[in-house]
Amino acid sequence: MIKILQTDITTLDVDAIVNAANSSLLGGGGVDGAIHRAAGPALLDACRPLGGCRTGDAKITPGFNLPANYVIHTVGPVWHGGEQGEAALLESAYRRSFEVALENNVSSIAFPAISAGVYGYPKQLAAEIALRVMRQYESQFREIIVACFSAADAQIYASML
Ligand code: AR6
Repeated sequence: MIKILQTDITTLDVDAIVNAANSSLLGGGGVDGAIHRAAGPALLDACRPLGGCRTGDAKITPGFNLPANYVIHTVGPVWHGGEQGEAALLESAYRRSFEVALENNVSSIAFPAISAGVYGYPKQLAAEIALRVMRQYESQFREIIVACFSAADAQIYASML
């Protein structure tokens, strides 16, 4: 089941939340900053030995002080106009997050709108890719949540479901 919620992803009591990180995995702004603040400093300590993460890949850590058991850190592409492989990289970020989730017996998972903030990916195009990959994995999860920060973002997803 795919659910669209307007919520702060750090509050969700799910097996795993996905972080829209950068390739250093050492924190940042946006949802990344919010997740690190809510999880506590142990999250950064767990990220350091991971040695970063390539764009389109994903790595997992515990959730520490979060209600979620795990954080799956993925790195979406920076939008450069759409001709530099952005769509394939964004699809890969979702796909690798699901694969890492399955390897860790995660059955409920929540995603933010990867790349659709600071990284500048057009929201509508990003949502189309997100939902397409989510539908492909839907049967393997009890619950897939799209955690939208704003009502407008939630509306974009809801209109596509
Ligand atoms: N819960 C849910 N969604 C959120 C939250 C939250 N607490 N906070 C922000 N969003 P962004 P990106 C939404 O910029 O575009 C970081 O500095 C936000 O409204 O967080 O992938 C990283 O370290 C937007 O819709 O991620 C990277 O350097 C979505 O989350 C860079 O930003 C993603 O926006 C990654 O940029």
